[in-house]
Amino acid sequence: MTPLNILIMHGPNLNLLGTREPEHYGRQNLASINQSLIALGDTLGCAITTFQSNHEGELVERVHQAADQVDGIVINPAAYTHTSVALRDALLGCHIPFIEVHLSNIHRREEFRQRSLLADIATGIIAGFGPSSYTLALRGLCEHLRSQQTDHS
Ligand code: DQA
Repeated sequence: MTPLNILIMHGPNLNLLGTREPEHYGRQNLASINQSLIALGDTLGCAITTFQSNHEGELVERVHQAADQVDGIVINPAAYTHTSVALRDALLGCHIPFIEVHLSNIHRREEFRQRSLLADIATGIIAGFGPSSYTLALRGLCEHLRSQQTDHS
């Protein structure tokens, strides 16, 4: 099985997971979410790299760096989901398949959270399962990428 390189990206305020609005985001912290993704990656044949930033430009730069380096991205863009044309353009420009992830079900929340500037260019979207949103996304992305490999072989 060819190893896949997967980048996990976390947007602003997700460094506060564990204590931040647990009614929406649960009590698991970011380090522990990342650890479980790395462990799952091992079982799926994926090398996982993780990145968190509170800055839009840093997230854009990290997507640029990932071009030609990673097979796919799992991204929780957090608040930038609803605002960032720059992140949308970076993901479009780098042609990297990605899954958009949210811990909470953004469609059950305030109206401004129900609009995503990334959803229509994502391979898939998973929202509302707490930290399991990330593991479901990693499994889905991995399966998608492997099916593409098979299609081309
Ligand atoms: C979030 C939802 C966003 O609306 C919010 O700004 C976040 C987290 C989620 O994971 O549910 O920071 O992306």
